[in-house]
Amino acid sequence: MRPTVAVLGIGAMGEALVAGLLGAGWQPEDVSGATRRSERARVLAEEYRCTITTDPRGVLAGRDVVVVAVKPRDVPALLDQIAGAVEADQVLLSLAAGVPTATFEAALGTIPVVRAMPNTAALVGEGVTGIAPGRYVEEGHLERAATVLEAVGIVRRLDESLLDAVTAVSGTGPAYVFVLAEALIEAAIREGLPRDIAEIFVHQTVRGAGHLLTETDLSAAELRAQVTSPGGTTAAAMHVLEEHGFRALVEDAVQAAAARSRELGSTA
Ligand SMILES: NC(=O)c1ccc[n+]([C@@H]2O[C@H](COP(=O)([O-])OP(=O)(O)OC[C@H]3O[C@@H](n4cnc5c(N)ncnc54)[C@H](OP(=O)(O)O)[C@@H]3O)[C@@H](O)[C@H]2O)c1
Repeated sequence: MRPTVAVLGIGAMGEALVAGLLGAGWQPEDVSGATRRSERARVLAEEYRCTITTDPRGVLAGRDVVVVAVKPRDVPALLDQIAGAVEADQVLLSLAAGVPTATFEAALGTIPVVRAMPNTAALVGEGVTGIAPGRYVEEGHLERAATVLEAVGIVRRLDESLLDAVTAVSGTGPAYVFVLAEALIEAAIREGLPRDIAEIFVHQTVRGAGHLLTETDLSAAELRAQVTSPGGTTAAAMHVLEEHGFRALVEDAVQAAAARSRELGSTA
């Protein structure tokens, strides 16, 4: 059974979800949404043939899942708008980074709240999302939330205390890959490749390596060992990365992102 969905806040992530749901077989009448600017609501309604307005309270009525996809700083104003309108048989599914389920429960009462941390790859249906239950969530609620998010990638259940780690690893994750890709492209150009060729080779290398990670049973370490012959070119490159503390740098970056996520959460 496909739960009906209202998406409140249709920016990058909200639109990815609307598009993903329709692409996965949801009918336009089963998806509604609200965004802040009326012109954008009109354009989105025309494109997706769904009811999309500027009235979050109006579009959430009767929906099985109410998705909050506004920026964390806009959550309090949205909660003021929808207070008293969310029913206990609806699931509130929040994508807002760092905002605890307790914040929603305090504003909305004994409502099942599921907090999720997706990532930007949801835009191409290749996201990975961690979901965590709030106080009033039962198994069926989590299943409903997972069904919705599976339209844009894979979903795993976790304890809410682990969502800061998820934020730092997969929420922030695409940026680690992008910065590595940027650096590789610049290095390729320094080695003499024209920019357009460098970009094609790096983009496809990242894509191919990603497929190897997800589509073989080999671990990252095994795949790396496979391409590292003794005395070879990869071994020379790995030696430089190790010498300059690449792994420790990545660990520190993830730790900093997790700490920042906790900091933002404590002020939400
Ligand atoms: N993008 C990601 O990769 C990512 C990853 C993980 C989690 N998230 C979470 O997903 C949420 C959305 O992120 P985003 O990148 O999609 O942000 P975004 O592009 O700024 O989209 C938010 C949308 O919500 C609209 N909005 C704000 N207040 C509203 C209200 N009261 N009623 C209706 N619409 C309202 C905004 O309108 P305006 O255009 O007028 O501002 C905007 O269109 C955030 O909480 C973020 O933490 C995003």
